[in-house]
Amino acid sequence: MPTQHILFGKPFTLYTLPRRFQFLLFFLLLTTTLIFFFADSAADVPAVAAVTEHLPDSLAHPKIPSLPAAINPFAPSAHKPPPIQANSSTGDATWFSDWRWRNPFSSSVTLDENRAVLPPLKRRPYIYTFYEPTPASKKSKAVKAAEERVIFQWRRAWWAQGFKPVVLGRAEAINNPLYKKVQMLKLEDAIEVELARWLAWGNMGSGILSNWLVFPMAGRDNDLLKFLRKGNYPQLTRYKDLKNGIFCGEKKAINEAIGTAISKPEDLKKTSSLADEVFNELFQVDTVSDGIAFYDTDRIRQDYKSIASNLFSAEPVKAAKGYRELGQLINAHLQTTWQSVFHKGVAVVKPLPKHMTVLVEESLQIAGNLTECPINPLPTACPPNQPNCKKCISSQPLLITTPPTFRNKTGLFNIGSVPHPFTTTALTHERDVLDPKFVRRLGIDGRDSWIKALTQDLLGQGVGASARTVRFKEAVAGEYGEWHSLWLTAEKSYHEDLDWIFGFDIPLNSTTSRGKSETPVPGPERRPLPSKMEGPVLTESELSLDRGRLKKVRETVGSRSRHQILIRDAVEAWNLGDTEAWRFARAFGARRKMERRKWEEAEKGFAGAEGQGRGWGRWIDKVVRRGD
Ligand SMILES: *[C@@H]1O[C@H](CO)[C@@H](O)[C@H](O)[C@H]1NC(C)=O
Ligand SMILES: *[C@@H]1O[C@H](CO)[C@@H](O)[C@H](O)[C@H]1NC(C)=O
Ligand SMILES: *[C@@H]1O[C@H](CO)[C@@H](O)[C@H](O)[C@H]1NC(C)=O
Ligand SMILES: *[C@@H]1O[C@H](CO)[C@@H](O)[C@H](O)[C@H]1NC(C)=O
Repeated sequence: MPTQHILFGKPFTLYTLPRRFQFLLFFLLLTTTLIFFFADSAADVPAVAAVTEHLPDSLAHPKIPSLPAAINPFAPSAHKPPPIQANSSTGDATWFSDWRWRNPFSSSVTLDENRAVLPPLKRRPYIYTFYEPTPASKKSKAVKAAEERVIFQWRRAWWAQGFKPVVLGRAEAINNPLYKKVQMLKLEDAIEVELARWLAWGNMGSGILSNWLVFPMAGRDNDLLKFLRKGNYPQLTRYKDLKNGIFCGEKKAINEAIGTAISKPEDLKKTSSLADEVFNELFQVDTVSDGIAFYDTDRIRQDYKSIASNLFSAEPVKAAKGYRELGQLINAHLQTTWQSVFHKGVAVVKPLPKHMTVLVEESLQIAGNLTECPINPLPTACPPNQPNCKKCISSQPLLITTPPTFRNKTGLFNIGSVPHPFTTTALTHERDVLDPKFVRRLGIDGRDSWIKALTQDLLGQGVGASARTVRFKEAVAGEYGEWHSLWLTAEKSYHEDLDWIFGFDIPLNSTTSRGKSETPVPGPERRPLPSKMEGPVLTESELSLDRGRLKKVRETVGSRSRHQILIRDAVEAWNLGDTEAWRFARAFGARRKMERRKWEEAEKGFAGAEGQGRGWGRWIDKVVRRGD
């Protein structure tokens, strides 16, 4: 007799259940096992599953190589893609700004293969300056142009440091309700202009008021710049050593300060600025201001004598020349300051070095120009805030290296060209054209080869593509990465925005172009060849072959022909990590460019705008170099 189990006090065997319950029990067991099995295998490849779900239609086409197999049948079937944000595309690049940008694959957020998720745009606090043509510049166009050129440099330098620079004028001052009261005091000269600046500032609201000869002259992580970038100014503050060069505060406090100042007309008439000690009670006076340089009159007279003799001359021609020289000096100081922050030099990352030489040619040029000594009318003079600055010596240039992998080191600036996987595949397999059959035959080993090589130093071997793309995104767009590196998408060459990223005119004319042979120039101007060219060296004929190939590949990547799109999609599906990296870098660059363009559009028509001086920088540099 079979052993009997007892259930609820009654004898029990499976057979005692009614027949339909036996079926139910069996079915339940089966589904649980299945769910367990599938859920487990899906957890191993979450990223791939999320992405393959949203592959483009063309991939369903039978000619296309087989996809990564794991399609999760239990994934939620349909989400709505997030709404299209305003101004979120230029050309082919589209993006979505969202805090979920660290997701390894953008399409799992945007449900769109082409839309990259970028970090939300950082808010740029306003920095204002007040400009009114001086008597000299009212008389002479050349002087006015030279002044505006310096204001242009002021705007660019603050923009590069993460601010929104705005040039104010008399119109804003008049709009301030306090303007009439100030007029009644019948102030004159410097203090009249000083109050006009304050009125204009008070009319605009919270932010920073700066003289246009005040420049950020330090790395991004300088404490004062970091504080100003936060955009909260709980107390009206001035900086002892910067005199009336820079103030920050909130709208209410600004206008209250103007009110207090004009209630003491006797004091006011004896001073030339609100930074005078009589008004100390209006401010919190800070003593630390090492990150900011003020090229004020006294300083110029004392430290930059040869410039001062022109600048303060009554002759317009000389004064204009003085301003141009001052502009060059400031530009040179900005660049040498950058160089002292990145004192370990520039690394032009070159993963898969054998065939990537042509890809990094442009980056190498930029690296060369950045490490170049700038044109400087007073090469031995230091910026006002750095009495012991390091000078640029052309015989000891900064190091340029071409490591095969990205290294995250302080003091090292990284420049990378991010190739489309199509480019990587074509160059590394030495093929001008790719076809689906060829793509299908590529082994697993060749997959995501670029990003694997790039993140080798950070992550080592045996890490999946999703972890690598996350680190890559951090390097491109993270708080730290953003200003420690520059990533260009290799298929498109544009560099007109570089000056705004760095905040100064990058020298266009390098006395030696690195990496290329050149007739030797004797003397100290001759720079040594690249300090350390790592990796294989190609012959000139191999290089020109690769250059031709790159040109063809660029055409293909941009092609609209159906056949080419199919192949491109296949390559992209095979290299999800490389594709994600390329899209992300492309969108990040495009958005940065667009942000600035929109800003320029809004500001054109005001003094120092780019529209008025497009191309000036280089033109003026050349004129000065040649003429003087
Ligand atoms: C988009 O750009 C237009 C100008 O082209 C501007 O007026 C608008 O404010 C921008 N929108 C956003 C959200 O930035
Ligand atoms: C590089 O290092 C800095 C700190 O030194 C860190 O904040 C940053 O996240 C690192 N970047 C990457 C891509 O790991
Ligand atoms: C860098 O310098 C070279 C000359 O050596 C010039 O052709 C190139 O345009 C410069 N690049 C940039 C971005 O200024
Ligand atoms: C660069 O400037 C030097 C003089 O400083 C000049 O001799 C040379 O021709 C210039 N090179 C280019 C490419 O403009």
